[in-house]
Amino acid sequence: MIDQAIYHQLLQEASRLANAYYNDDNPLVSDDEYDALIHRILQIENNHPEWISSSSPTQRILAMARDKAEKVAHSIPMRSLDNVFSLEQLIAFFKKSNLEKAELVAEVKLDGLAISIEYINGHLNRALTRGDGLVGEDVTQNIKTIRALPLVLNLDNPPQSILVRGEVYMNKADFITLNQAQERKGLPPFANPRNAAAGSLRQLDSQITANRPLRIFLYQLFINNAPGGKNHSDALEIMRKWHLPVNPLSQPIDSSIDAQNYYEHILPVRDSLAYEIDGLVFKINDYTQQDQAGYTQKSPKWAVAYKFPAKNAVSRVLSIELQVGRTGVITPVAHIEPVIVGGVTVSCVTLHNFEDMYKKDVRINDQVWVKRAGDVIPEITGVVPKNAPRQPLLARPTHCPTCRQTLTFESTFIRCTNLDCSDQITRRILHFVSRKAMNIDGLGLSLIQQLVSENLILSPADLYSLNRDCLSNLPRMGKKSADNVLNALQQSLNPSLDAFIFALGIREVGIAASKTLANHFQTFDQLLKADEKTLLQLHDIGPQICANILAFIQMPSTHQLYQNMVFAGLKFKKPVNKQTLAHMHCVLTGKLSVLSRPDASDALSARGAHVHTQISAKVTHLIAGESPGSKLAKAKSMGITILTEQDLLELIAK
Ligand code: IVH
Repeated sequence: MIDQAIYHQLLQEASRLANAYYNDDNPLVSDDEYDALIHRILQIENNHPEWISSSSPTQRILAMARDKAEKVAHSIPMRSLDNVFSLEQLIAFFKKSNLEKAELVAEVKLDGLAISIEYINGHLNRALTRGDGLVGEDVTQNIKTIRALPLVLNLDNPPQSILVRGEVYMNKADFITLNQAQERKGLPPFANPRNAAAGSLRQLDSQITANRPLRIFLYQLFINNAPGGKNHSDALEIMRKWHLPVNPLSQPIDSSIDAQNYYEHILPVRDSLAYEIDGLVFKINDYTQQDQAGYTQKSPKWAVAYKFPAKNAVSRVLSIELQVGRTGVITPVAHIEPVIVGGVTVSCVTLHNFEDMYKKDVRINDQVWVKRAGDVIPEITGVVPKNAPRQPLLARPTHCPTCRQTLTFESTFIRCTNLDCSDQITRRILHFVSRKAMNIDGLGLSLIQQLVSENLILSPADLYSLNRDCLSNLPRMGKKSADNVLNALQQSLNPSLDAFIFALGIREVGIAASKTLANHFQTFDQLLKADEKTLLQLHDIGPQICANILAFIQMPSTHQLYQNMVFAGLKFKKPVNKQTLAHMHCVLTGKLSVLSRPDASDALSARGAHVHTQISAKVTHLIAGESPGSKLAKAKSMGITILTEQDLLELIAK
C-alpha cells in the first residue's frame, strides 16, 4: 500500500525533472525514465482519485472540449508596444520622458502571442489572451499543456495573487514538423510559427493543443496587483528563481545610447535562434521612472519595440494575371517562383494597379525583390537590374478579361462596370463567405468559380438554395463534402449584424465601419432606412463612404438579397458585449487604479455608453475613483448613480 506522502514526493520529482528539461535545457533522466515516472503517478491516481493534486503533470490535459472561449476582463489592462525602427528613434522615444539616460533592460521581441497568467496562492488559476487589451479569452486549459510552466509554484508562502505575462510561441523546428503532420492528414499547413501558435492556443479542444508544441517566455510580473520585485530585472530574476520560463537573452544596459550594441549582438544570431523574433524590446528598469513616464492610450512610454527591417527575397515573375475584384477593379497580380519571405511561402503578389506596376517597371521574366513585413501582405519592391533584353511592359487593358465589357478609367482604377461579370460575382461571394464576414468553411475560390460558371449561384443569397444533389454532382465533391458545406451554410445564418454588413462588401465599408453601423442602427432594417444626415454623424463615416452606403441601400438587389436571406432563415445574434451599456450616460472622475481614464472611457463607449466630461441633467452614472473632487458632490446632489471602479470592471466583463 502506497501512502500519500510518496505520491507527493513523486509529483515534486516530476516537477524538478520537467524544470531541468524545459527551462534549463538540461535533462536529468532519459525520456523513458520520465515517462515511467508519469505512468507511476497515473497508476496511483487511478487507485486514489481523491488524492489527485492540481500540480500533477496528469492535470495538464483535461478531456473536455469547450463550445466557445469564455471572455474575461483583465485585472490590469494589457497594453501593446509602440515601434521604432532606428537608434535615433529609440533615443528620441525615451527623450520624450526625459529618460534617455535611464538604465534599461534589453530583451528580444518574441514573435508569438501575448498571454496573462494568474496564480492564486501559488496555483495556476487562469490564463487569458490579450484580446482587446481589456477583455481576453480564457485559454487556461491550453496553457496548462505547456510543460515548462509550473502548475503550482514551489513557494513556502506564496503571495495571494501573482500575475505573470509573456509570449506563447512555437519553435521553428517544431513548426516544420507540425506542418508536415498537417499535410499528411490532408489539413492546410500554417503560414508561420506565430499562426501555428495562435491556432493552437485558441483551440477549443485542449487535447489537440496538448499535441502542439507550444512554449512560453515570461517578461512581466505583478504581485498582488503591483509590479513585482525591486525593478524589472529583479522581476525577471524572481521569475527565474520560481522556475518560470524567462528568455535568457535579456540583459541590462546603461542607457538607450548603448542599445545599438545589443542590436548588433542579437541581429547576427537572429536566424540561429530556435524561435522567431521580429525585433528587440527596451524597457526602463526602474519602476519609479516607469511611473514617471506613464502611458499613452495604447502603450507604455517606458518600453518600446525596436523592430528589425522587413525581410527581403529575390524571385522571378512567371506571369502577370489580370484579376477582376469584387467591385470590378482590374488588378495586375504577379505569379512568381515560390520563395520564402519572413517564414511564409509567397507565390503570388499583387501589383496594386497599373500605375504602380509601371512605376516599379515590373515585367514578365524579371527578377524582383519581394518584401514582407510582419503580417503585412507581400510586396514587390523593385526589379533586380540585368543587362539582357526584357519583355515589353504589359499594356493597360481596354476590355474586361472575363466578360469582355469595355473598361472604364477612374483615376488609378480601371474598372469593369458589369455587375453580372462572373469574376465580380465570384469575388463578391468569396468575400461574403470569408472568415471575418460570414465565416463559412469549405467554400473556397475554385468551388465558388464552379458554382458561378454553372449558373448555380449569382448572389450570396443563392448559396442558401444549394442542395446536396447539385453540390455532390460537381467534380471533386462527394456527398460528405457537400454535407459539410450545407452544414456550414446553415450555421452561418446566425451572424452578428456587423459581420453581415461587412460581408455585403459595400465599397470602402471595412470591419471598423461595419461595427459602427451595427452599433448605431442595431437592426438591418434600420440600416436600410438610413439617411445621409444620420450617417455623416457617425464616427468613421465620411462623405464618400456615406455615398457608397446610400447607393447600396437604394439598390433593389440589396433588398432582394436581404429578403432571400431572411427567407432562408437569417437571424442575427444578439449583440454581445456591445450595446449592453447603451442606456448609460457617464462621467469619469478621480484616479482609477486598474484602468487608465482613456481605457475606461474606450471600454464604456465600445459597449454603447455615452461618455461625457461634465455633469449635466443627461448624466445617469458617475464613476468615481480616488480623490473624486467636486463632481462627486454635484452628482450626489442631483441623484446620479455613483459607481466605483470595481462596479465598472464588473459592468465591462458582463
Ligand atoms: S512587453 C506593457 N516584452 O510584443 C508592455 N512584449 O508589439 C507589454 N512581445 O503585446 C509588452 N516580446 O505580445 C514585451 N520581450 C517582450 C516581448 C513583447 C514580444 C510582444 C507582446 C506585445 C507585443 C507588442
